[in-house]
Amino acid sequence: MMKTVTCTAPVNIAVIKYWGKRDETLILPLNDSISFTLSQDEMCAKTTISISPTFKEDKFWLNGKEESLENPRIQNCLKEVRRRASKRKHESGVEGTLNWHIHICSKNNFPTAAGLASSAAGYACLVYALGQVYGIEGDLSSVARQGSGSACRSIYGGLVQWYKGEEDDGTDSVAQSIAPPEHFPDLRVVICVANDGRKKTGSTIGMRRTVLTSRLMQYRIQESVISRTAAMKKAIKEKDWSKFCDLTMADSNEMHAVCQDTSPPCVYMNDTSHTVAALIHQYNDVKTTSGNVNHKVCYTFDAGPNACLFVPGAVVGELLGLLMRAFPPSPTQNTDTYITGIPIQPTDLTR
Ligand code: DP6
Repeated sequence: MMKTVTCTAPVNIAVIKYWGKRDETLILPLNDSISFTLSQDEMCAKTTISISPTFKEDKFWLNGKEESLENPRIQNCLKEVRRRASKRKHESGVEGTLNWHIHICSKNNFPTAAGLASSAAGYACLVYALGQVYGIEGDLSSVARQGSGSACRSIYGGLVQWYKGEEDDGTDSVAQSIAPPEHFPDLRVVICVANDGRKKTGSTIGMRRTVLTSRLMQYRIQESVISRTAAMKKAIKEKDWSKFCDLTMADSNEMHAVCQDTSPPCVYMNDTSHTVAALIHQYNDVKTTSGNVNHKVCYTFDAGPNACLFVPGAVVGELLGLLMRAFPPSPTQNTDTYITGIPIQPTDLTR
């Protein structure tokens, strides 16, 4: 007797960044964040979970290698899913299966060289698959959040908001879809890998340090990110692409400014990252008759040097040509710089 489920979950890229927690165990953020979930086919985690009364112990394989299941974040997700399952055990007949051992096998279909945080897709996928195995209904984003904060946003497709919530137990710190994937039609993500090979401070450690030491962070969480999130929601509602781009770049820049204001500073962008950002501003710098810049494309950077560019399909060829000219591929280059284009297509794990 055995029950097996396989799920996939895509990567998401934040346009209003999550940076800083108010509770490290429950993973409760200091601000709301907004992201775009990428196509299910392009960059995703795939997880297969089996439970059986014949299994002698719990086991976990990540990208083909056996790993310990003792990781507290995985344990928190497992505990929460089992707690929810046990609440409805009498209706669903899941009671017996809660005592069965579990085998989890997870892998990513995208190269680690893409430099994207795989934990978001990984935990979203793990929690969604667990929910399927134990027959959990309702929102799972607050469980995925306990694996990795940004993972809660990968539970849904399109544009997703993660509400920081007000409750101490995190029940209202959940993600919700705020616009479907096709809201900005024919949108693509171009990822410029500008990996300088040095090991950076991980997000968890980096954000802890920022919360403890950065005064600029106080301004961010008390004022600027609140008004920018409201402005972003308005831009999304009005399909104002230029405004969306402007706010995305501003928020990425502010996140990296608070990282720089951290002691010791967390430096994620390198010279290549700054050159890509400058190039994007140059590319956008065509004034409209009203004198405003009409932003065609935008960049955002996570806790690393690689640029994620949001690019309308109509200009993707032109922009790639420009990037290729600015960063001609060279076999002698010691920095690993290359470019890849990824379409955003409809995807929603809940559909
Ligand atoms: C810069 O979700 O990886 O990508 O909750 O500690 O696991 P933990 O952090 P994580 O942080 C992501 C930070 C970010 C911005 C974002 O995705 O919003």
